[in-house]
Amino acid sequence: MSIWCVTNLKPGTAKTTSAVWLAHALHETGRKVLLVGADPGGARLKLAPELSDGMGSAERWNARAPMPFEVISLATRDLHRTLPRLAADYDDAVIDSPPIEDHQGIAVSALRVADVAIIPVAPTTFEIDRMAPVLTVVDEVNTLRAKPLPTCVLLNRCVTNAASTGEAAAVLAAQGHTVLATRVPRLELYAQSHGAPVVAAGTAYAQAAVEIRALLGQASA
Ligand SMILES: Nc1ncnc2c1ncn2[C@@H]1O[C@H](COP(=O)(O)OP(=O)(O)O)[C@@H](O)[C@H]1O
Ligand SMILES: [Mg+2]
Repeated sequence: MSIWCVTNLKPGTAKTTSAVWLAHALHETGRKVLLVGADPGGARLKLAPELSDGMGSAERWNARAPMPFEVISLATRDLHRTLPRLAADYDDAVIDSPPIEDHQGIAVSALRVADVAIIPVAPTTFEIDRMAPVLTVVDEVNTLRAKPLPTCVLLNRCVTNAASTGEAAAVLAAQGHTVLATRVPRLELYAQSHGAPVVAAGTAYAQAAVEIRALLGQASA
């Protein structure tokens, strides 16, 4: 069993989109997948909690278009203790983490239990600059772990043929990040997919899943 944690500092960085599409990619290759919704919702929307209730979450997506695998809600600070038991019968668990800046306790708990952290990053200065605080948190988490957590950047929302993608990859690699070769393009396919059925085969997410499995030393299915 391996646990994938899709994480980032900020909301709106394609964590949920990536977690859901990666979970489908694994499922479609015959893996038994558990998708774990760990984002309790937007701290930014405290003034309108009815709007933040599960907004943009994996659970709400699953409620609108039931996914062909198990989806659970586990937005707790002790998920590093509870998840291994819940996920024991699965091949892979994919955690849709909350933004670290809004729910650090839950996000850290998810990173403690993960076998790999996947950080979706758009090739913009804004998002690249926010990688440093993510790595600071990972460094702290590593003091609580038996083994250091492998991390990888999934470049995402990339404009096809734009120079920014290669430049971002070079900057991130120079900073010491593992940057997946797969780039997820900015597409309506993904932007409109929340709450809709997903077929990952043939998309960048299917390739990304193969790459991440290789990173974990697992043969692709
Ligand atoms: N590859 C993509 N192309 C276009 N839009 C995307 C892509 N990935 C995500 N989005 C859009 O970006 C927004 C934020 O994505 P979401 O997965 O909800 O982020 P988070 O979970 O990090 O808050 C959503 O509107 C989503 O549809
Ligand atoms: Mg989300």
